[in-house]
Amino acid sequence: MADDTTDTKSSNQMWGGRFASGPDAIMEEINASIGFDKKLFAQDIRGSIAHATMLAHQGIISTDDKDKIVHGLNTILSEIESGNFEFSRQLEDIHMNVEARLATLIGPAAGRLHTARSRNDQVALDFRLWVKEELQKTEQMLTGLIAAFLDRAEEHAESVMPGFTHLQTAQPVTFGHHCMAYVEMFGRDRSRVRHAIEHLDESPIGAAALAGTGYPIDRHMTAKALGFREPTRNSIDTVSDRDFAIEFLSIAAIAGMHLSRLAEEIVIWSTPQFGFVRLSDAFSTGSSIMPQKKNPDAAELVRAKTGRINGSLVALLTIMKGLPLAYSKDMQEDKEQVFDAAESLELAIAAMTGMVRDMTVNTARMKAAAGSGYSTATDLADWLVREAGLPFRDAHHVTGRAVALAESKGCDLAELPLSDLQAIHAAITDKVYDVLTVEASVASRKSFGGTAPSEVRKQIAFWRARN
Ligand code: ARG
Repeated sequence: MADDTTDTKSSNQMWGGRFASGPDAIMEEINASIGFDKKLFAQDIRGSIAHATMLAHQGIISTDDKDKIVHGLNTILSEIESGNFEFSRQLEDIHMNVEARLATLIGPAAGRLHTARSRNDQVALDFRLWVKEELQKTEQMLTGLIAAFLDRAEEHAESVMPGFTHLQTAQPVTFGHHCMAYVEMFGRDRSRVRHAIEHLDESPIGAAALAGTGYPIDRHMTAKALGFREPTRNSIDTVSDRDFAIEFLSIAAIAGMHLSRLAEEIVIWSTPQFGFVRLSDAFSTGSSIMPQKKNPDAAELVRAKTGRINGSLVALLTIMKGLPLAYSKDMQEDKEQVFDAAESLELAIAAMTGMVRDMTVNTARMKAAAGSGYSTATDLADWLVREAGLPFRDAHHVTGRAVALAESKGCDLAELPLSDLQAIHAAITDKVYDVLTVEASVASRKSFGGTAPSEVRKQIAFWRARN
């Protein structure tokens, strides 16, 4: 009895059979996951209902017990949904919180639910279901973002802007074409999401602790009931695999990188120096000291969220690396990374969709910028190749001299008199001026996937049909 006075806690009611005393307070704190895995309550209950139903169907538990279990689980679901459920840290995680409550509600029948399963396959199931739903949500959100870009692209299929390389004016493009670049990026993200859904579409439940079970379970039945294509094929891999979470994080990291590049462009475009776009009041903030300011905070935060998402990806890769098969408790640390990244990604996509839809595009500023920086120099070189038969390298050189002359005169290429151009190369005629405007430059780039408005419209139609 003297020993008992040092420990007032009893051992765990779920697994404490061989334990004389309860955990140290620090043990409880490091061990518990309920603080974050309570997010999995709906998936946990859904999984348990499917499992109990299968157990009864296979004659492993009675129909009477199954009915009690299902009824009890549904009661717990509404208790949690209505905020009338008390989560206990002593019960570690969502799985044991639900099961303990079930015992209180229905008595001994509750103890039969955990037949032929383990928390290892249970958590793999709950988390997979959660990630699958999150991927489906991501797919829809990306579709919304793509739709926003398609609308802006259509509206601006003819609006010219400077295209950049090295953030130096390169060649004129259309704003519609630029928007469609993002459609391609987010389209790839969405197809990665779809592949990930296919990859993870296997049911883990029934792998049990790691070796499968001696009970005559039907894993195809639970897989079907839970909306999975089929059951997983190796019980060891099933409980030690978190590829689905890592795939989610990699997809989020790549999409986050795309969102961050867009955020950076919006930050640049909305400076007074560029003035290409104006963000709506709804998606910008003011300064508490400088009254003239309108800051692109939402874009900056989207750019920053990418850092968080990358951190989560690296964290989970590092958690998983070096784990021997099968389950190890390290894997409990998977959830917070995924939950945090999912929240960041959702926010970032939603904020970007809003900004893209709301921003005002200053086509006059874009057009003025499109014509500066000798952006039609390539068009002059191409004209020399086409009309004067020069090899491209020679045409490049001649054009370079024309640019240098225009620069020394402080004028555009189109403002150089014909005599100046002919002094550089005798084959130049006044027809050359037709190709030196930004509109002509853009309209000429009709190659598949090029920036000509006619081509951009074709790509918009392609994506509209696909979206
Ligand atoms: N809370 C645990 C997790 O999130 C559940 C699985 C526990 N399994 C075990 N053998 N202790 O991973």
